[in-house]
Order: sequence, then structure tokens, then C-alpha cells
Amino acid sequence: MKFRRRIFVVGGAITPFIGKHNPDFIWKKHPDFGKKENPTLEGHLTAAITACLENTGVQASAIDKGYIGNFAGELFCHQGHLGSMAVRADSGFDGKPFMRVEGACASGGLGLVAAIDALNAMSDVAIVAGAEVQTTVSARDGAAHLATASHWESERGLDEFTFPATFARRSKAYRQKYDVSEADMAHVVVKAYDNANKNPLAHMKTVNMTLENASAPNDRNPNFLANEDLHDFLKVSDCSQVSDGGAAVILATEEGLKKLGKTPADCIEVLSYGHATAALGRVNDYTAFDNGRASITEAYNDAGISASDIQVAEVHDCFNIAEILMYEAMGLADAGKGAFFAKEGHSSLTGKTPVNTGGGLMAFGHPVGATGVKQLLEIYRQMKGLCGDYQLASIPTTGFTSNMGGDDRTTVSLALRNL
Ligand code: CAA
Repeated sequence: MKFRRRIFVVGGAITPFIGKHNPDFIWKKHPDFGKKENPTLEGHLTAAITACLENTGVQASAIDKGYIGNFAGELFCHQGHLGSMAVRADSGFDGKPFMRVEGACASGGLGLVAAIDALNAMSDVAIVAGAEVQTTVSARDGAAHLATASHWESERGLDEFTFPATFARRSKAYRQKYDVSEADMAHVVVKAYDNANKNPLAHMKTVNMTLENASAPNDRNPNFLANEDLHDFLKVSDCSQVSDGGAAVILATEEGLKKLGKTPADCIEVLSYGHATAALGRVNDYTAFDNGRASITEAYNDAGISASDIQVAEVHDCFNIAEILMYEAMGLADAGKGAFFAKEGHSSLTGKTPVNTGGGLMAFGHPVGATGVKQLLEIYRQMKGLCGDYQLASIPTTGFTSNMGGDDRTTVSLALRNL
């Protein structure tokens, strides 16, 4: 999408992403069990919005519109109507137009698209927040809720862990088509955990992942799908986390920046977005992200950039195969070569195109509705030198994000420039 007006990222906030294996997540063996509770969906949403206003110094009264990315509040938390829920965060929002936006795991990305459209039309300052809480049920029951993002009638029967199974189907097709081993595909996993170990906000901040553990199933890291055809093609470490968390960002036009007393130099610029949607349940090629590529190409063309310009990226690594296919859809690697892009270190913190520098969905975590917003903020944070122990040695000028809903069904990609 080519913009009519320049769009800037003013700043924002990400809550800690938590869940099983995170030391701050309260579960029955935690020392604080019975004394403390995990934050609710409202808690994460409010914390992200409040910290976003604090970090940017923006008053709630200055916001023209609010968009809330959330996938399954009703199913995990019996809570819908999240536009109105977000208004509870600050009395300055009272009466303002807020709404929830849903597109499965691309809900956060779609919130950004909705805000950018509004800014291109008539608004000047928008807040986009995303939040999800998924730890209210077991991973197995949660998988049924997540499966509502698939074509339920034709895909739910694949496995009780429906999304893990749809991506195991991709891993199987990919490994059968190309000369790529399970161990080759482990490098994106190890990179994710290495990066998360440097990130205090990451769900898996204290979990160590060795190449040996990630390379083959074992007692601690089993293949867990019941579907016999797909069982051997996915193990626990290949998956993103079942996380709780939130993120919020403020976007503004040039007029909006003036109203906020900011300059473009305080911000990064969104150059373009690509937004593509494919028919649910109708994947033509399990070895490529065709829909993702369409949204990426749109974002590249409208920003006038190509893969070789990108100095930092956040991609939707809901499973290790997804990160590999994202590299290929972005043109960072040729078809069948994505795993080697990571294996050769090109996407690591010191590589030519660092990807998912804070740990990605696999290790930073994946509170579904927050993910697209968090991806944008991660690029902002790298461009403004705010990433602490995982800050890149050289501040990037051009960045890119790609946020996916379902099995490559809804994709939102953003091209970004540091100012
Ligand atoms: N030995 C044997 N079996 C084991 C085991 C072990 N040591 N550990 C786990 N298992 C098996 C068991 O069968 C277990 O199920 P039950 O306990 O119900 O029998 C199953 O694996 C899951 O085990 P846990 O519940 O203990 O696993 P966990 O809580 O650590 O979760 C995970 C691991 C299942 C991989 C979970 O992290 C997960 O589901 N991740 C993926 C989340 C997901 O799919 N998110 C959506 C991504 S898709 C997307 O982004 C697009 C979109 O729009 C949806």
C-alpha cells in the first residue's frame, strides 16, 4: 500500500511475555503459588497501553483512534469487546473510537493496517495495542481454540494439535522436496533461544537450547503429534510458545507529530505495508508461503526496497519451518536454502540480515494478538538502540516485519526506515 501521508512510529511498550518455563509464571510448583496470580488479559492490555503512554509521553487525550489486536479472548478468557476494555486503561480515552481487530495470529498486524488506513484518511494519532492470554487452559485444550484459525471443517481432524500439525505437514513436504535434514532446520531454533537468553522480556529467557537437543527428538524434546504421517516431522522445540503478554504502539502523521511535540528524528517511518489474504484451508504449495510472498512483494514495491536493503527483520516463526519459508518468501534465501541461511549465521545477531533478534515467536514468545505489534516495536527498538544485550552493533536503517495468520492465510508486512 502506497501511503498518501507519511506515517511515523512514535514509540511503545511490550510487557514481559510469560508462560510455562518462564520463572515469573505462576504455576502449582512456583514458590509464589497461592500468593500471586498471573496477569489477566485486561492486565496485559492495560500494562502495555499504560507503559506505551509513559514511554512516549503522549497523553491519552491526544489519541484519535485505538485498535486492539486479539484473536481469541472469548475462548481463553470469556472476554470479548476489547476496544471498550482498552478504554478502561485511561480516562482520557473515554468516548474515543476504539475497536478490536481479529485475523488469527495476524490480529496485531491487522490492527496496524487499520490504524495506518485511518491515518491516511483523516486521523493524526492512533494507538494500536495487542494482547492475548492463553495459559488459562492446557496446551492441548488451547490447541482447539487456536484451531479456529484453520478451516475447522477440513483441517481440525489433522490432529488435536491442529496448527502444529499443519506446519509439520509443511516440514514433511519441504524435507521431501529439498535436501534438508532435521538438524539443518535446528539452527533457527538455537538462534531463537540464544537471542531470547539476552532478552529480559522473553518467555524463554532462562531456557538453554543446544544444537544437539534441537536436532533430533529425545525424552525431553519429543515428537508429540498423534497423526502418524506427521508425527516424525515436529517436536516440541520446533514450536512457538503458548504465551501471555501485550504490546502497544503509537503511530502518527506529520501533523500528529506536531501536535505531540515530536519530530521525525524521534521516530521511525513506516514506508509501506503489504496485506494479502488467501482462501482458508486452500494451501496450494506446502513448500512455500505464496500469500506471504504477495504481501512482502507489495511492501517492497511500494517502499522501493528489496531483500538486500534489509538490515533487520522480524518474521512470523510460529514453527521453525515458518521462519525458513519466510526467508525464502522475502528473497533472503533461494527456495530450499532457507535453513542454510540460518545455519551459515546470516540471520544471527552478527549476520548480514539479523532476524528475530529478541527471540521470535519460538523463544520471545507468541501471545497471538500482541505478536504483530511486538514485531514492529522490536524494529523500532533496534533502530533506536533500546535492545540492551541483544542490540545490534550497527544501528539499522532499513527494517522489515512479516506477521502471519493461520497457515499463510493472512499476512501483513511492513517496510520501515530509521530517521
Ligand atoms: N514425553 C512424552 N510426551 C510428551 C512429553 C514428554 N516428555 N512432553 C510433552 N509430551 C506430549 C504429550 O502428548 C503432551 O500432551 P498431554 O500432556 O495432553 O498428554 C503434549 O506433548 C503437549 O505437552 P505439554 O502440554 O506438556 O507441552 P507444553 O505445555 O510444553 O507445550 C507445545 C508444548 C504443545 C509444543 C506448545 O508449546 C504448543 O502448542 N506450541 C504451539 C502453539 C501454537 O500452535 N501457536 C499458534 C501458532 S500458529 C500461528 O501463529 C498462526 C495462527 O493464526 C494460529
